[in-house]
Amino acid sequence: MSYLLSIDQGTTSSRAVLFDRSLRPLVMAQRALAQSFPGDGWVEHDAEAIWQSVLGVCREALQPVAPAEVAAIGITNQRESTVVWDRATGEPIHPVIVWQDRRTVAQCEALAAAGHGEVVRDRTGLLIDPYFSATKLAWILDNVPGARQRAERGELAFGTVDSYLIWRLTGGRRHLTDATNASRTLLFNIHTQQWDAELLALFDIPAALLPAVCDSSDDYGVTDSTLFGHEIPILGVAGDQHAALVGQACFETGMLKSTYGTGCFMMLNTGERAVASHNRLLTTLAYRLNGVPTYAMEGSIFVAGATVQWLRDGLGLFEDAAETEWLAERTRGSHGVYLVPAFTGLGAPHWDPRARGAILGLTRDTGIAELVAAGLRSVCFQSRDLYQCMMQDVGTDRGRLRVDGGMVANGWLMQCLADVLGQEVDRPVVRETTAQGAAYLAALGVGWYRSLDELAALWQCERTFMPAMSAGMRESLYAGWQMAVARVKSDRG
Ligand code: G3P
Repeated sequence: MSYLLSIDQGTTSSRAVLFDRSLRPLVMAQRALAQSFPGDGWVEHDAEAIWQSVLGVCREALQPVAPAEVAAIGITNQRESTVVWDRATGEPIHPVIVWQDRRTVAQCEALAAAGHGEVVRDRTGLLIDPYFSATKLAWILDNVPGARQRAERGELAFGTVDSYLIWRLTGGRRHLTDATNASRTLLFNIHTQQWDAELLALFDIPAALLPAVCDSSDDYGVTDSTLFGHEIPILGVAGDQHAALVGQACFETGMLKSTYGTGCFMMLNTGERAVASHNRLLTTLAYRLNGVPTYAMEGSIFVAGATVQWLRDGLGLFEDAAETEWLAERTRGSHGVYLVPAFTGLGAPHWDPRARGAILGLTRDTGIAELVAAGLRSVCFQSRDLYQCMMQDVGTDRGRLRVDGGMVANGWLMQCLADVLGQEVDRPVVRETTAQGAAYLAALGVGWYRSLDELAALWQCERTFMPAMSAGMRESLYAGWQMAVARVKSDRG
């Protein structure tokens, strides 16, 4: 057997990538996913649409080969997004509540005010925020008539998107998740590697809902034979940011990556030590192999590529995201315009779900190009917020950054990132690192590769962006950003 299939179910689209035995991407199929915004700060997906898009892209990517030639499937997914379905019928009882959704702000504030923050942080590495799954799950149980009773009777199943896809792919035979996805729920103890009974009680979640937790490279069952005409084993699963860390081969302590998709997620491998942040970053799992967890520190910002999407679809400033590169090139200097994309609040290190976005510093000569540049620059400033906190937390002042995700094709943006960070930025040859990470995990499962070192040897740098801005300019630009952020924060931020 010569191929691996990677499923990358992201926030705005589903992708399937076929890899050859040398783990080179051969075919990629992609389908957009409809977003629904049914209330202020609410974001939902249709679970059936997620499944149909995944099935569609898998069939498309498999077209050039015989399914019997596919040794395994790896799955990676948008994390935290929460789905509950009926174990008997497989029917979801509510649309997926997406990670960006802020509907449980009040519940989170009440839990934090009651002093539960510390125990949650110690056990899960996370903060009490609507971003994570637990309060979304409780909301579904409290708002869908009869759901709580049915959950207690064991009739319902909860999953993040990986879990739901495994269930669908295996024809309802497996209810599983991997440790990285579990680590984003607020219910999983990252030290004991188990669902935590006290946290389940705190968030009022019946244990009967939960999937079993596996390693990131593990036996997740085989696909139902009716789907692809052949039973294909599922051997790798990880949340998308963890998969990107694997795909970027950040296997050594101190290695750092940042992924620019809908949001931006910076992750630093901290090895066998779960390092607690003093700057409101998260402690999470990098991956878990052979039962052994490797930890990471993570900074999560909710809006990166989504800013470009908003400038394009919301404001209609251009037709194609690729145009942002030459538009930004047309501007000279910063123009003092700052766009703070707090559309769904602010993530790390501010954690202010009530903050909302703003554009500041407009003058009569501000045009489309300046707005676009400000939007792109906001991605770099937010990266600097995370980078600075992370370096402080691990007691160093520099860390070389590997970047990936759709936005890194933009050379202007990457140069701006190197300038704003004052740090070299490495862009790899293969930019589908999320899908690649899932393929790596599946490849370990198949036994094609036996160690992380063998996988690390596959990583290749396409281009390094060197910082070219003076320190004075860098600091004054960043100070302007910090003032802009201070203006949009709520009084609770
Ligand atoms: O935590 C949310 C994250 O997993 C979503 O990633 O790539 O869909 O922006 P992405």
